[in-house]
Amino acid sequence: MPRRCPVCPRRGVPLLLLLLLLLAPAPAASAPGTTTDTVTAAAPLSGNRTLVSAGRGKFVLGFFAPDRAPEDGAGGRTYLGIWFNRIPARTVVWVANRGSPVLGPAAGAAFRVLANGSLAVVDSDGAVVWATPPPPSSSPAASDDGIGAAAAAAAANATAQLLENGNLVVRVPGAGVVWQSFDHPTDTLLPGMKLGIDFRTGLDRHLNSWRGPGDPSPGEYSFRLDPRGSPELFLYRWSARTYGSGPWNGFQFSGVPNLKSNALLTFRFVSAPGAEAFYSYGIDSDTVLTRFVVNSSGQIQRLMWIDMTQSWSLFWSYPLDECDGYRACGPYGVCSVERSPICGCAPGFDPRFPAEWALRDGSGGCRRRTELNCTDDGFTTLTNMKLPESANATVDMSLSLDECRQACLRNCACRAYASANVSSPGAPGCFMWTGDLLDMRQFSNGGQNLFVRLAKSDLPLSTSSAEIHSRTKRLAEIIVPSVVGLLLLLAGIYICVLKDKKRRKEATPLPSRNAQSTPFGRRNQIAASGDAQDDSLHNGQGNNKDCDLPSFDVEKIQAATDNFSIHNKIGQGGFGPVYMGKLDNGQDIAVKRLSRRSTQGLREFKNEVKLIAKLQHRNLVRLLGCCIDGSERMLVYEYMHNRSLNTFLFNEERQSMLSWEKRFNIINGIARGILYLHQDSVLRIIHRDLKASNILLDKDMNPKISDFGVARIFGTDQTAGYTKKVVGTYGYMSPEYAMDGVFSTKSDVFSFGVLVLEIVSGKKNRGFYHTELDLNLLRYAWRLWRDGQSLDFIDPSIADTSNAMEVLKCIQIGLLCVQEQPKRRPTMSAVTTMLTSENPTLPEPCEPAFSTGRNHGGGDDDDNGEDPETKACRSDSASSWTVTVEEGR
Ligand SMILES: *[C@@H]1O[C@H](CO)[C@@H](O)[C@H](O)[C@H]1NC(C)=O
Ligand SMILES: *[C@@H]1O[C@H](CO)[C@@H](O)[C@H](O)[C@H]1NC(C)=O
Ligand SMILES: *[C@@H]1O[C@H](CO)[C@@H](O)[C@H](O)[C@H]1NC(C)=O
Ligand SMILES: *[C@@H]1O[C@H](CO)[C@@H](O)[C@H](O)[C@H]1NC(C)=O
Ligand SMILES: *[C@@H]1O[C@H](CO)[C@@H](O)[C@H](O)[C@H]1NC(C)=O
Ligand SMILES: *[C@@H]1O[C@H](CO)[C@@H](O)[C@H](O)[C@H]1NC(C)=O
Ligand SMILES: *[C@@H]1O[C@H](CO)[C@@H](O)[C@H](O)[C@H]1NC(C)=O
Repeated sequence: MPRRCPVCPRRGVPLLLLLLLLLAPAPAASAPGTTTDTVTAAAPLSGNRTLVSAGRGKFVLGFFAPDRAPEDGAGGRTYLGIWFNRIPARTVVWVANRGSPVLGPAAGAAFRVLANGSLAVVDSDGAVVWATPPPPSSSPAASDDGIGAAAAAAAANATAQLLENGNLVVRVPGAGVVWQSFDHPTDTLLPGMKLGIDFRTGLDRHLNSWRGPGDPSPGEYSFRLDPRGSPELFLYRWSARTYGSGPWNGFQFSGVPNLKSNALLTFRFVSAPGAEAFYSYGIDSDTVLTRFVVNSSGQIQRLMWIDMTQSWSLFWSYPLDECDGYRACGPYGVCSVERSPICGCAPGFDPRFPAEWALRDGSGGCRRRTELNCTDDGFTTLTNMKLPESANATVDMSLSLDECRQACLRNCACRAYASANVSSPGAPGCFMWTGDLLDMRQFSNGGQNLFVRLAKSDLPLSTSSAEIHSRTKRLAEIIVPSVVGLLLLLAGIYICVLKDKKRRKEATPLPSRNAQSTPFGRRNQIAASGDAQDDSLHNGQGNNKDCDLPSFDVEKIQAATDNFSIHNKIGQGGFGPVYMGKLDNGQDIAVKRLSRRSTQGLREFKNEVKLIAKLQHRNLVRLLGCCIDGSERMLVYEYMHNRSLNTFLFNEERQSMLSWEKRFNIINGIARGILYLHQDSVLRIIHRDLKASNILLDKDMNPKISDFGVARIFGTDQTAGYTKKVVGTYGYMSPEYAMDGVFSTKSDVFSFGVLVLEIVSGKKNRGFYHTELDLNLLRYAWRLWRDGQSLDFIDPSIADTSNAMEVLKCIQIGLLCVQEQPKRRPTMSAVTTMLTSENPTLPEPCEPAFSTGRNHGGGDDDDNGEDPETKACRSDSASSWTVTVEEGR
């Protein structure tokens, strides 16, 4: 293949086909032309075919024979199931006939629509082994009259469709969806599925493990929601509880303090009495695969698919330790893995059976020293607690914590109280326990305060001061462990507010703006006078089409920026100066005045702006619209209050303001933003100029990528009108882009890697120069990594507060991203998965590319003097692991 390859996609195509051929999952895949996602009466699914979900083809429905354990002689059992399409090891996420396999090979089985509208799995004799319930309207009682008969006829037209989210839905004309596999989970919860109860229909969606590896029949373990009190998830072995998540406390399950939404995964819990209560989660990507399963040895696990290692990586798993055992320490016993034995009694309580307790069996629990007097009791505070199970607790969401205490004191049966909404300090919400306190544990971090009622004589001496102390302590303890969570929450709220604002803006002010001066009214006359050639283009074009183009009046922009006053200038980007401004509705904006004339006509320009404006992600700066004044074009963006990352990162005074936690959040956010640009957005944009000054920070220091799509707006994506030097920035440019002008998503991955290393070290790639060793930042990072001294790489101003595991992970990911060979760099989806996995198995990086570093002064001199190490890494690159199916799209 020629080294100089002018247009990247052309090179990509044959490679892509090759990849698809090599990597397409072999089992039971039918010929590409014949794939469908629907079963109808006319087209049943025979045993040798599969359905593939439409879209990205993420899931397959078909018959499979699990690899059963050898001692099970039966063999030849066939099940109808759904599994992931794109990964080599078949991972089944749902099984229809798990209790009643089709005996014999798959070829004889079929999945078809019956006359009464059921969808059924039938064996080779046509006997039904499993079926969905027939649609309600087709029951015999209803089919006496004409309407019933018509409904029955419609039922025969029922169809089953496999959706892209892995849901198999049965639809009946006129009745909509009458059944879905998401309502009948097996052992796996996929994003968007609900785990919980619908009180209106009585549906109890729960997980049930397989009996063993390779045996999908119902197993010992189930995971289900108990809605009583405050809802709690319990793991059961048969009917006995083995683990409880702790009641929902408005923010998380109180026994799972480290389960928080992150950039990739969002958790949701809904409790609407009388309607439904459920847990579910979502993933903010179309390309990252994740699943949540109850495995056959009783572990609840979250797994993520890692492209690079081609394996499922364990994200977390519960139960974790002895203290997760259900009621490990009995009534009023508190379990803590920090001490030995693990069981202890709440203050004011003693072991009920001291002999057993001494033998380390705490399950008998504890006994009160002094019985309660009822009128003259007080409370002791237990901190960092998993709350007791709440089936018998009362929950009153209107009471503040103080009112809660009063209410508990007034009720002689009340044994303890706690906040039932810790999502923000001071939010109302009250738990009161009237029975024994069971299944408690104490964490070293996280958890919440529990106030246990004691007789006066058992209380610590000075009640009042102790309580004041405990109250402030309580605040601190709610705030400190959940800082991450709260930040995320704030970010979430902020995004909601933004979205809401946007929605309102779209609903009112913008249209009126458009209405006053119609999109092609006055502004176009100006445009026409300055740009005659463009005029001809859009005269023939329907004006109404542009109604959704957010367009701003020149006067508005001039007023907002004080007529582009020098005081309002906040930057000079590659495409022109940027000004801040305030619209008359109070909104802050940033206006980029495009200095050079685009190679495009006005219509193309507008089209591009429209497309780019549609890209919306929490890690992208939002393009609000454009403004056209004669031949001048301007882009209007949301304003970012903390300006850009480089103003913090490379400034000695301000860099310590970016704690490790914030930096890690920023790295994650940037990765999410690029992933969206590369894979999840409609446009598939390559940024081409990622650098610290293009990462803007909002009020909460969340990163937002700016300047994406600008090359596109300029029409420079394909044309040679602008040299490649202008578009990229030395120090961030990948070698193949800097030298050959070849760019791909992997060039962005390279720039991202440089950014990660800069964020970790607080040093500029181009500015960094190690005086003794003649090293640039990448080489320096590599040397330290190779010598096992990576922790020396971290910015000294945050070294104390950092999380070593995360730092090392980021450095390794950074190095993987700056590999010389694009093939060796991970895709952004792999990057986000690695970043969010707790203990990912990361590949070893080779020595990264340094040419851009050496190149920075002198433009384009080709740099062919390779290091021997680089060469070595080059030679085995044929067996490279970064080649994935996803990137071949
Ligand atoms: C699948 O099986 C059916 C009937 O058993 C047969 O008619 C059809 O040709 C088979 N299709 C393929 C692709 O093997
Ligand atoms: C639907 O029809 C099939 C055969 O036609 C039968 O086996 C099945 O029991 C019926 N289901 C119900 C619920 O009537
Ligand atoms: C069922 O489908 C057939 C063929 O598409 C159509 O002719 C018929 O009207 C449909 N019946 C009902 C009740 O929708
Ligand atoms: C279930 O998960 C645990 C840990 O997460 C693992 O050790 C065990 O092997 C798994 N069991 C099966 C049957 O996969
Ligand atoms: C509770 O204690 C108070 C004084 O401390 C006493 O007057 C009252 O009788 C006690 N009540 C009971 C039920 O023991
Ligand atoms: C709840 O109350 C019932 C009936 O009083 C009792 O049997 C059960 O053990 C209690 N459950 C808990 C968790 O206290
Ligand atoms: C918990 O408090 C937050 C913040 O005050 C509020 O938005 C949320 O609705 C509350 N949750 C419940 C279940 O009341």
